[in-house]
Amino acid sequence: MSLEPAFSMPAAPPPTAPAPAGPPAVEVTGVDYAFKSNRAGRKVLRDIDLALAPGDFVVLTGPSGSGKTTLLSLIGALRAVQEGSIRLDGAELKGLGQSKMERMRRTIGFIFQDHNLFESLTAIETLRLAMRLLPERYKRRDFRERPLALLEELGLSEFADTKPAKLSTGQKQRIAIARALINHPRLILADEPTAALDSEMGGQVIAMLRRRAVEEKTAILMVTHDPRLFRSADRVVKMVDGQIVSEG
Ligand SMILES: Nc1ncnc2c1ncn2[C@@H]1O[C@H](COP(=O)(O)OP(=O)(O)OP(=O)(O)O)[C@@H](O)[C@H]1O
Ligand SMILES: [Mg+2]
Repeated sequence: MSLEPAFSMPAAPPPTAPAPAGPPAVEVTGVDYAFKSNRAGRKVLRDIDLALAPGDFVVLTGPSGSGKTTLLSLIGALRAVQEGSIRLDGAELKGLGQSKMERMRRTIGFIFQDHNLFESLTAIETLRLAMRLLPERYKRRDFRERPLALLEELGLSEFADTKPAKLSTGQKQRIAIARALINHPRLILADEPTAALDSEMGGQVIAMLRRRAVEEKTAILMVTHDPRLFRSADRVVKMVDGQIVSEG
């Protein structure tokens, strides 16, 4: 087998000056975490510091069990912060009640390894459902026009009225990505979004995300084990045993 990548990855653009004003999109400081179910109180995250500016595309990698998904779930307001601080666009997550955490979640685009699409919804219905999480942002006609425009932009127009059962894994994952993008989140959290895809499809998915980071200053934190994807990122952060061991 050749060691050359089977597809060409979009390279990270050169760093641009000056540094963006305003708070970081994500600022994690001194975060520790232990699952309550672990009676020994074993910490699965220890003293994590991590910052993403708007438009940063950061890859998070490291062995299985090192804490990547746990860290993503804390940043995504899916779990409560125990120790340390996590700020999104300057807003502290620690200490928020359930309903404020849920509001925070609505402003984030999530992409998981499994597409998590509702089997009963067509692609366009999936996108409309995501838009309804932030109804105050949209006019009625947006619910018709925006999903179609995004599907076209992502080369998915032909699947607008298709339900997941009729789609390939790669097509489903691209619909899931459209769902993560439709509300123009300031932050996208992606947990092994290409794991179920072949390398060409994986490359397309990364190119879509990269474009959002550049064009809309969306901060993207993506977990991956695939070293071919590293060069698409501005930075690669490595975790081992609950700690960040290298960044660069
Ligand atoms: N819901 C849970 N309850 C208890 N322990 C958990 C839970 N989820 C994860 N863990 C433990 O926390 C640690 C970190 O898990 P995590 O899923 O964050 O790792 P990961 O880096 O995402 O691994 P992978 O690459 O396999 O996805 C592991 O020791 C795991 O067993
Ligand atoms: Mg994981």
